[in-house]
Amino acid sequence: MYVFANLKMNCTDDVVSRYISHFDNFDFSGTEFVLCPSFVSLYRARDILNEHFSICAQNVNNAGAGSFTGEVSASMLASVGVKYCLVGHSERRTLFAETDVHIRQKIEQCLASGIVPVLCVGETKAEKDAGDTCEVLKKQIFSALDGLDLSNLHKLILAYEPVWAIGTGVTASTADIEYAVGVLSDAVRGLGVNCAFLYGGSINTDNFAEISKVRGIDGLLIGGASLDIDKLSSIIKGLNNE
Ligand code: PGA
Repeated sequence: MYVFANLKMNCTDDVVSRYISHFDNFDFSGTEFVLCPSFVSLYRARDILNEHFSICAQNVNNAGAGSFTGEVSASMLASVGVKYCLVGHSERRTLFAETDVHIRQKIEQCLASGIVPVLCVGETKAEKDAGDTCEVLKKQIFSALDGLDLSNLHKLILAYEPVWAIGTGVTASTADIEYAVGVLSDAVRGLGVNCAFLYGGSINTDNFAEISKVRGIDGLLIGGASLDIDKLSSIIKGLNNE
């Protein structure tokens, strides 16, 4: 089971160091723990990375290199040991005007640098209420992968993150999650890509166990609850025991 801890724009470098020392030598028997700190702290864990502890960037630029002041490329991420990169998180789509074209280009950059993209998809409340979830998810996936050469991709991670569940305290029901994972699996079937599926959106210490057991779910993407190291640790321990 994957546990992605998306720290977003929280945690200065000293706090991230605390996470890293806390989780160095932690018992991750049944899990791969993936810390997603800000760019400036990504390099911190590079000496202790192993099969149970990886690093994920929260974003990447859609170009390979060049005059893009302030931006970070996929090859830069790879050079500090980054294994995964979030792409298309709803906060980036809505707050930073990220389009389907940018998202596809970002995935392409990840592939070129050997980084596993974690493509985040999810519908808004209005889309859910209109019964458009399936259509929205498929459109997000197809436009993100359109025309890409996936033959070198050893893994693609798809995260179902309903926009209405992110940071709201409202979690999708297990039926909603199972339905969405079904839609995502159908969408990628036939692409010949090995996919894993995550759920994200208001996961906490009370609901993680039930969500982790939903059919087809391979991991959790945790935002708010990952800012409390004790809560995060107890979620990982709980998953280890399953
Ligand atoms: P949340 O965030 O757990 O605070 O809802 C999840 C995410 O944005 O990935």
